[in-house]
Amino acid sequence: MKILAIETSCDETAAAVGSLIDNQIIIESNLIASQIDIHQAFGGVVPEVAAREHVKQIIPIINQALSQAGLSRSTASKSLNGLAVTQGPGLMTSLLVGTETAKSLALAWNLPLTPVHHIAGHIAANFINRPLDQIKFPLLTLTVSGGHTALILMNDLLDYDIIGQTVDDAAGEAFDKAATLLKLGYPGGPSISAAALEFAKQSRPSTIKLPQPMLRRSDYNFSFSGLKTALLYAIKQDDNWSSRITEYAYAFEQAVVEALVRKTIKAALDRSVKTVALSGGVAANHQLRQILNNTLKQKMPTVELLLPNMAYTTDNAAMIAAAGLLKLRANQTIAPANLAAQPNCLLV
Ligand code: KG4
Ligand code: ZN
Repeated sequence: MKILAIETSCDETAAAVGSLIDNQIIIESNLIASQIDIHQAFGGVVPEVAAREHVKQIIPIINQALSQAGLSRSTASKSLNGLAVTQGPGLMTSLLVGTETAKSLALAWNLPLTPVHHIAGHIAANFINRPLDQIKFPLLTLTVSGGHTALILMNDLLDYDIIGQTVDDAAGEAFDKAATLLKLGYPGGPSISAAALEFAKQSRPSTIKLPQPMLRRSDYNFSFSGLKTALLYAIKQDDNWSSRITEYAYAFEQAVVEALVRKTIKAALDRSVKTVALSGGVAANHQLRQILNNTLKQKMPTVELLLPNMAYTTDNAAMIAAAGLLKLRANQTIAPANLAAQPNCLLV
């Protein structure tokens, strides 16, 4: 089974070809046209600018994804078994470019179409290149991106139960806002992470104390807006803050990672899971990957940790291909005329 997948939910125009061979998902091409350079000047994503870029990029990116997988537009209808596209959540005008393109191609090529929830895509990034029948459930996934922070319990590959989420900012959003406060670049995750690493290399303890968000609460929810405010007040009271940017970045990253890891381990223990998986753009964070791995090994040594390949952490279409293949195999398709972009859809 082979599909073409399209992702345009935010500021990356992405297309990929993926196959399901012997119960394993293989990615044959994975193309991304990033708009980061364009939005950097504004310090964040400007929806209308993003939509216009998607319109420019979508057809060239699809053509490249097909050709890198050894296909072409003239052979696609015979070589592919279906199409997958991100239906939401995301920016409405960005989503529309992907969904309308996918609908048109499904009609022109007479192929089945499957809509993919963006978070289901992030989660499925963990299932690429791995025998699907060896994934053990219950599986707990921590999904951390610019728009979402959630703990999701899964008893099957396409079965999602959200057991905790952020009550305010998402983890990636917190990184982005903290980076703005510290005058580090956009997107904030990679720039905070690089600055924090500079401080860590000096091997001296940080004297900056930031609060541990929500750790005293017994539920599985997260909150990051208080941490961002604490950072704001800390730098306001520090005349010397601009010479200690790397130390602030380090303290902030530590606080976010600690909150994410502690709640994930708590939920994993409470729910006796067999697998923990990390997903979303913040899954690119080295500290998070490492501390989650170390803590899990210590507290639940028999639990397997799935970490997505770095190329499949921030937005991409390979992950949409992965989720799309699973949905297509389960016959979860939609008539093109019935597919509508959904900026706020729930994961079900
Ligand atoms: O999944 P994603 O590409 O888009 C959404 O679905 O939102 O995630 C983007 C987010 C941004 O907030 C970005 O700052 C964060 O992921 N991010 C990181 C890192 N790389 C990207 N956060 C922390 N550390 C990183 N290395
Ligand atoms: Zn995403």
